[in-house]
Amino acid sequence: MHSFEALSAEFTARFQAQHFPSHPATLYEPANYFLGIGGKRIRPVLCLMGNELFGDIDPDAWHLAASIELFHNFTLIHDDIMDKAPLRRGKPTVHEKYGASTALLTGDVMMVVAYDYLSKIQAQHIRPIMHIYNQTAREVCEGQQLDMDFERMERVGLKEYQRMIGLKTSVLLAASLRIGAILGGAGLGNQQHIYEFGKNLGLAFQVQDDYLDAFGDPEKFGKQVGGDIVAGKKTFLLIKTLEVATDAQRREMIRLTNADAATKVEGMLQIFEDCGVDAWARELKEQYMEAAHQQLEDIAVLDRRKEPLRQLAAFLVQREY
Ligand code: IPE
Ligand code: IPE
Ligand code: MG
Ligand code: MG
Ligand code: MG
Repeated sequence: MHSFEALSAEFTARFQAQHFPSHPATLYEPANYFLGIGGKRIRPVLCLMGNELFGDIDPDAWHLAASIELFHNFTLIHDDIMDKAPLRRGKPTVHEKYGASTALLTGDVMMVVAYDYLSKIQAQHIRPIMHIYNQTAREVCEGQQLDMDFERMERVGLKEYQRMIGLKTSVLLAASLRIGAILGGAGLGNQQHIYEFGKNLGLAFQVQDDYLDAFGDPEKFGKQVGGDIVAGKKTFLLIKTLEVATDAQRREMIRLTNADAATKVEGMLQIFEDCGVDAWARELKEQYMEAAHQQLEDIAVLDRRKEPLRQLAAFLVQREY
């Protein structure tokens, strides 16, 4: 069994490989730039852990891990265009540095290369894994569209928010685990449990992401703090605040909608704090984590094999970046 640190180091070393040709550099240099500025690499590690839960790591798991990380990076490049985000991983985003048109194509070509890695695995696994992979890819698109639709909606409920983050974020974490498990020969029941573990972990992960977007330390977070507020995202912070805000706070929020970005961020953060969003974030994450751990319990393998997953899960919901 390997720890998160060990798997992520090994994955990172292998992932340094050349994924793209050199010409035209105007397309591939931005791709290399983005992969070169880091990232936590948690999805490939989840794939490897899902695989190792059921036996030794299958050589094909490395192809799938690379495929998934490329796919994830493709979604981030496009997400940053949609969210008008200037910063990621502490560096300028691809569209900021190279323009939106190049960023679109860089994302596209990254997705194609992701599918290339998927096609390298043993033939008998391609069909079932491709099925889950494509289902997941469609769901991420659905979640991303809902995320944007919600910007224009006055009220969004916690259930709708949960559905949206489940699609845009959790399904990829869940599928990474399940795909690794399939390669490891897991039966359907175990596949379902590991998927649901990932689904709930992903919900807690996105709650933490939304929390950090508002209250993260800009030095560590690597993204523009307050970006969700400026974009009018319906995060759980806003949803919960709207549930309990006083009339005075509501009036202040209306006033802030017409304020400049900096005033809006400062004002909204104050209201979030006054409404006690900290405690909610903790509560919500705990709920999701409890559900996740229940699913992990139900996987029929020796308990000590689950330790790396427990460790990684704990890190993901406490993370500061
Ligand atoms: C960011 O994912 C997108 C979300 C789903 C919140 P990560 O936080 O895993 O991003 P990197 O790859 O580590 O930069
Ligand atoms: C992104 O959600 C989910 C996907 C990229 C599919 P966010 O928009 O919250 O992610 P960040 O905060 O930009 O990483
Ligand atoms: Mg974003
Ligand atoms: Mg987004
Ligand atoms: Mg975010």
